[in-house]
Amino acid sequence: MSVRPVIVIAGIGNGTGTGAATARVFSKQGYRVALIARNADHLNKFTSELKETGGEAAAFPVKDYSYGAVTSVVEGIRKYQWQTPEKAEIRVALWNAAFGAWKPFLDVTEQEVHDSVEANFVAPFAFSRQIILAFQENELSELGKRGTLLFTGATASWRGNVSTSVFAAGKFAGRALSQSLSKEFGKQNIHVAHAIIDGGILTDRSLSRHSNPEDHKQFAENADIRLDAESIAKSYLYLANQDRSAWTWELDLRPAHEKW
Ligand SMILES: NC(=O)c1ccc[n+]([C@@H]2O[C@H](COP(=O)([O-])OP(=O)(O)OC[C@H]3O[C@@H](n4cnc5c(N)ncnc54)[C@H](OP(=O)(O)O)[C@@H]3O)[C@@H](O)[C@H]2O)c1
Ligand SMILES: *[C@@H]1O[C@H](CO)[C@@H](O)[C@H](O)[C@H]1NC(C)=O
Ligand SMILES: *[C@@H]1O[C@H](CO)[C@@H](O)[C@H](O)[C@H]1NC(C)=O
Repeated sequence: MSVRPVIVIAGIGNGTGTGAATARVFSKQGYRVALIARNADHLNKFTSELKETGGEAAAFPVKDYSYGAVTSVVEGIRKYQWQTPEKAEIRVALWNAAFGAWKPFLDVTEQEVHDSVEANFVAPFAFSRQIILAFQENELSELGKRGTLLFTGATASWRGNVSTSVFAAGKFAGRALSQSLSKEFGKQNIHVAHAIIDGGILTDRSLSRHSNPEDHKQFAENADIRLDAESIAKSYLYLANQDRSAWTWELDLRPAHEKW
């Protein structure tokens, strides 16, 4: 029986960011797309959009990013019966969801500390466990690997700053997890990679944060000062297509005019 690969993507937001762009790019390459997110309305809408453009996609809403909820949602994806007859194998997975708050340290609330730990540490831990177990069942692909597990990082994954205590602490944890997994599972020909997105990504939500009209216009129109989600997605495809004789653990991506 022929095989059609599955990509699992966690963190779709309202369908205008990196998670959604990655789904579109991999869908065009023939991947089946399994999508995890908390907002079921946005998720179902986006899944329909992918199907209308000829893709095979399925929505897996989660109530929160607790260890149990994330574990059972990925278990569900592993058992899912796709519509087309080809055998399904999870070959790529992306942990893209995040929680952030940008404020002075003394204003950070206990709830924000818990939200950051849950979305940036507990959830990707549970996600990675299920994905690694799925990859271990795969034969080696023509690239010599069992699967590729990707993480979306940020500037705050490796540098803290004046208003990032709760966000950077969470994002550092995701980077540490991905590096440890890369070393432990490289020996099993499982590829783990982390992408530091070192600049603003153009999404509906990030655009709405630019309240000053001139700022808003610049961020929307000047491609040199922000990243396009689709360009990030193309780099994820490149990572997934790397063979095991020369593969990347960490990649950094930034727009041409970023001050860094
Ligand atoms: N935007 C940036 O400028 C930027 C810069 C550097 C790095 N990053 C990283 O990139 C990753 C993806 O972010 P993205 O900005 O491209 O957006 P995205 O792919 O659409 O993902 C948005 C994430 O934020 C969550 N979220 C919570 N409240 C939301 C709301 N009201 N509307 C939309 N999303 C909401 C979503 O959770 P659900 O899917 O569960 O709803 C999802 O996990 C994150 O890991 C982030 O840390 C972003
Ligand atoms: C750190 O924060 C300051 C003040 O908000 C800002 O000007 C600077 O660009 C930030 N640095 C980085 C590396 O994000
Ligand atoms: C996404 O959310 C932002 C606000 O956070 C909103 O301005 C935008 O219209 C939303 N886009 C879609 C496609 O729902």
